[in-house]
Amino acid sequence: MKLKKVEGLKGTISIPGDKSISHRAVMFGSLAKGTTHITNFLSGADCLATIDCFRAMGVRIEQEGTVVTVHGNGLRGLKKPEKQLDVGNSGTTTRLISGILSGQDFEVTLSGDASLNKRPMGRIMKPLSMMGAEIESVNGDGCAPLKITGKPLKAVRYESPVASAQVKSAVLLAGLYADGRTSVTEPALSRNHTELMLKSFGVQVLSEGTTASVMPPKEMTATDIAVPGDISSAAFFIAAGLVTPDSCITLKQVGINPTRNGIIKVCEAMGADLTMSNVKDDNGEPTADITVKTSRLKGTEIGGELIPTLIDEIPVIALMAAFAEGETVIKNAAELKVKESNRIDLTVDNLVKMGADAEATDDGMIIRGGNPLRGATIHCKYDHRIAMTFSVAGINAQGTTVIEDAECVDVSYPNFYEQLQMLAGQ
Ligand code: S3P
Repeated sequence: MKLKKVEGLKGTISIPGDKSISHRAVMFGSLAKGTTHITNFLSGADCLATIDCFRAMGVRIEQEGTVVTVHGNGLRGLKKPEKQLDVGNSGTTTRLISGILSGQDFEVTLSGDASLNKRPMGRIMKPLSMMGAEIESVNGDGCAPLKITGKPLKAVRYESPVASAQVKSAVLLAGLYADGRTSVTEPALSRNHTELMLKSFGVQVLSEGTTASVMPPKEMTATDIAVPGDISSAAFFIAAGLVTPDSCITLKQVGINPTRNGIIKVCEAMGADLTMSNVKDDNGEPTADITVKTSRLKGTEIGGELIPTLIDEIPVIALMAAFAEGETVIKNAAELKVKESNRIDLTVDNLVKMGADAEATDDGMIIRGGNPLRGATIHCKYDHRIAMTFSVAGINAQGTTVIEDAECVDVSYPNFYEQLQMLAGQ
């Protein structure tokens, strides 16, 4: 993909469905009794991997674009798949499904692509083993492929060392099959879509501070899920609208759940012209239309409890910081090193390549804004969020920017480049 400076971004777009919520809707629909209708499903590679895994375990799932119908098999209705489950590039599929598989009465192996099979799985293997599941890293490196043998599970109270919704969800989903109340406490609150959606499926869930608990239900009851637009996808256009001269864009029906809206707070702190309208609540998953206009941004500090609420947006926030006046410090974000790529190093390397003043730290980065950017060839190691971040950089840089492996945006945002061209009037 080749990008050049644009004149300005103008118009209104609908942001594709939330990735986290789309995964969960398919998973919980598969475990429920009855039919779950999902609208605005994210038809990106990651969520399609989740559909394929549940189909392989005997669940009938129909998909027509963004509309998905899941004919649930009930809590104990999954069947042993004929071959190993392919989780693709998706950490969410891997970690959440591992919790579910821990409570089944069969053995299964799951494996993903080269990037996925390097990501740490010890963080779920530990609590799931404590609950009684047999879970083994086939190559003994703490990564997938994972061989999981489901067992009758013991309820636990788990103190997670990381603020991770994937770890929390793996334990809570295993808790659906446990012999009592299972709870997870995390150091800071991560996204709470699992807790909210389990409630919609009739499960007893309690959230108190940074502790979430579930009671094992007899059955889960199907429900319909309208997936909000993904704020992590909207983030690229929020940033693009703010840093591209002569821009004004509106993003429709973006999810603004408080455990995900850190980017909005950062925009406010940076002095962005961002407004929200048409705010609606839907079972605890509020949405809003977000309008952004070109703004003079200023540097800020980002750390602590804010980090889990914007973890996937940090690369594009770092780009915003490169256009801001003054210094931006991002700390307490070491988790970025174990995402689809090492996002601290890859963000900083590519920013520097384009002429920005940025440096990596042990748990984040420091960006001194104001240097003009120049086009460069961007290696994104097949990381979708890096590809999109530097596409936004490319439309604001002198010369041509080339994004290698740009097709990886399919993981979370298949029509990203079409929408970008549309807003640029191309
Ligand atoms: C996700 C949780 C986050 C996030 C990922 C999706 C989820 O990961 O980065 O893109 O759907 O639960 P961690 O739980 O590893 O922080």
